[in-house]
Amino acid sequence: MVKPDGVERGLTGEILARLERKGMRLVAAELRLLDRDLAEHHYAEHVGRPYFEGLVDFITRSPVLVAVVEGPEDTWRVVRALMGATNPAEAAPGTIRGDLATKMAENLIHGSDSAESALREIGIFFPHLA
Ligand code: TYD
Ligand code: MG
Repeated sequence: MVKPDGVERGLTGEILARLERKGMRLVAAELRLLDRDLAEHHYAEHVGRPYFEGLVDFITRSPVLVAVVEGPEDTWRVVRALMGATNPAEAAPGTIRGDLATKMAENLIHGSDSAESALREIGIFFPHLA
């Protein structure tokens, strides 16, 4: 998912291009304004954390680009490597967050963190693909 900051900054093409250049193939993509219910469901594992309300405010403030990409093997792991560390201040240069973001709360991209979460999240946003 390209988060609201990425869409607002005009970085959707740059971010998708990085995934495509690495070898990921775009399977589905849609620009969507998330409502709070959907955002809270997507980020359910973070309920109760001090940053949760701010995270939901942020992710619902303007449209996101939700996308499914496919690769030869361990796609979620490859995407996570391209994304870089959650905190852009610690993300390595060469990664999306390392090159293009500065703030933890606006770190441009969400990516599933396991094959199970990929299946769950594809089910939330593209139920016909899961
Ligand atoms: P998390 O799943 O830990 O990171 P990632 O996006 O790399 O999978 O957290 C989800 C989002 O919540 C993260 O991208 C940014 C936000 N967040 C904060 O704002 N503060 C925090 O301390 C953490 C852990 C996350
Ligand atoms: Mg996560």
